[in-house]
Amino acid sequence: MDIMPQGFGYEGHTMAEARNGAPDCGHTRLFLCSYHAWTFELDGRLKASPEMHQAEGFCRDDFFLKSFRTEVWQGFVFVNLNGGAPPLAEGLGEMRADLEAFRLEGMKLVIAREWDCPFNWKVLVENFMESYHHLGIHHKTLQPMMPARDTWTEQERRFYIRAHLPYKDSVREAYRTFEKSADFSSALAPIPGLSDGQKAEWGLFLAPPTFLLATAPDRVIWYRLQPLGPERLRLLTTTLVAPNALASSNFAQLRAQAAEQLTAFHLEDMQVCTAVQRGLYARGWQRGRLSHLEMPLWLFHRFLAARIRGVWPTDGYPAAPSQRP
Ligand SMILES: [Fe+2]
Repeated sequence: MDIMPQGFGYEGHTMAEARNGAPDCGHTRLFLCSYHAWTFELDGRLKASPEMHQAEGFCRDDFFLKSFRTEVWQGFVFVNLNGGAPPLAEGLGEMRADLEAFRLEGMKLVIAREWDCPFNWKVLVENFMESYHHLGIHHKTLQPMMPARDTWTEQERRFYIRAHLPYKDSVREAYRTFEKSADFSSALAPIPGLSDGQKAEWGLFLAPPTFLLATAPDRVIWYRLQPLGPERLRLLTTTLVAPNALASSNFAQLRAQAAEQLTAFHLEDMQVCTAVQRGLYARGWQRGRLSHLEMPLWLFHRFLAARIRGVWPTDGYPAAPSQRP
């Protein structure tokens, strides 16, 4: 039996208490299997098993929860079901340097929303990583801020894919003025310590297969993917802010604004991803042609193709060059 079912960590769930009201975010002293009331310690040891003292030869120490390897990277807990894989931090060293200024491990998760998605997880990854569609479905939300034609992608790497979404000149100017004003009651406070380049764009990161981050000057958006089957995905869309943002007297309102913005463009993405999945069912399906603005898709599929062959991207061939020198 699943001892951490949906709702675990919410108020009212035995032994666990909610934090932040966010899904899958809480704390507990013990794991309780509510079926026969066996309880386990946090390290997986069986603590109590009612009436089992009458079972002949039963030894409590023979039963414990299975353990898996974990690694904390920039505040995110990764679980590795393959105990023999090389450490994650080794492969993502360069990505860590790219993200260092954001101090992810100290950020606060302030918005989280779960979505039940009727499409394949790769449809979402592709959608997250290319910004060509800003000029289509996002023409009212993201395109006015980060026009599709200005977006570009860095060179091919073994373990991650990175794209840049520069702000339009007027947006960049407005942001500079806002930052100088030091009055952060009308929008989220900037993340301290970012470079001028980081203040002038959103950045997209994919550590395939499923680790997705978007960075902005005032927030980081993290999408957690849980594929449930070929045509179903549980998705958690979140927003993280630097601790200084919480100090704003207006924070509750700013958070509500940010949540509304995230939902607005994500609903647009839900619409197109759902329609793409319907297209994948079509008997008349045919291969299209990618735009240069969709380079991350091409890199993602090169990653998948390499992994299917049991190797990694750039093994045995030169890395594809960056779209900017
Ligand atoms: Fe989108």
